[in-house]
Amino acid sequence: MKKWYAVIGDPISHSLSPFMHETWFRENGLDASFIPVHVEPSDLKQAYEALLILGASGFNVTLPHKQAIIPLLGGIDDTAAAMDAVNTVVRSGKSFNGTNTDGDGFVKSLLTMKPASDSRILLIGAGGAARGISFALKRGGFEDVTITNRTYRRAEELASETGSKPMMKAEAEHRLGDFDIIIQTTSVGLAEDEALPIGLQNVRPGSLAADIVYNPIETPFLKRAEEEGCRTLNGVGMFVYQGAIAFEKWTGIKPDTEKMIQLITEKLGGNYVNR
Ligand code: ATR
Repeated sequence: MKKWYAVIGDPISHSLSPFMHETWFRENGLDASFIPVHVEPSDLKQAYEALLILGASGFNVTLPHKQAIIPLLGGIDDTAAAMDAVNTVVRSGKSFNGTNTDGDGFVKSLLTMKPASDSRILLIGAGGAARGISFALKRGGFEDVTITNRTYRRAEELASETGSKPMMKAEAEHRLGDFDIIIQTTSVGLAEDEALPIGLQNVRPGSLAADIVYNPIETPFLKRAEEEGCRTLNGVGMFVYQGAIAFEKWTGIKPDTEKMIQLITEKLGGNYVNR
């Protein structure tokens, strides 16, 4: 029987997940569909029950449901529990189980830049995205992680949970040259917002600047970092790899990520290359 998958969120119309997964279904000869479903917060429980009854084989969860979905699920794995957020749901008989592929998706993208495992890493931000990435960096064998954030208390809390070091933003700005990899996870950096989450004047040329934002494909943070002589990595890879890990959990097949990064980059209207 034809299988079907979904992504639920509010808003949802701009999601690139249906394009990505349907392309991978086609490439791998699978008879399956992937449907965007607009679900408002007040309808989440009913939508969840509908997905269950109507036989979805799995689905992605995006904003604002990543936490609210948890009590509805049959269970969640350790990764989702540590992050207190779910982005991928897999059917198990008559229930659904949750996991989270965002952090590992980022780390897989980072690995394409061939970083040394003893790289000194600065993570900017202490919200949900930073949380997932800091746990995944540890799982990926990156031990030297420092967290800085506008609200220092949140950096301290996240650092103590993940065995990382907190640093005040002013000190991180001053000592930016000490880091090999700088990862920007805050919501600063979206198209209209020219502000930077951290001043880059002390960055070391040749270090790697990574942004989790993929639309725009080149954020003000990455533009500025490139001007300072940094290598750069945008958020397209993270988006594609979080989807690829979900796809493999659903189908057992590893999809073609390299080609998808190109396709998504083209869809976003650019020819940006990570370098
Ligand atoms: P997400 O789940 O996308 O990470 P979040 O949990 O709301 O979202 O976290 C947003 C992150 O962006 C936080 O680190 C936030 O800093 P605070 O903890 O100080 O709020 C950061 N952030 C948002 N707007 C910012 C701004 N204008 N300057 C610096 N950091 C900002």
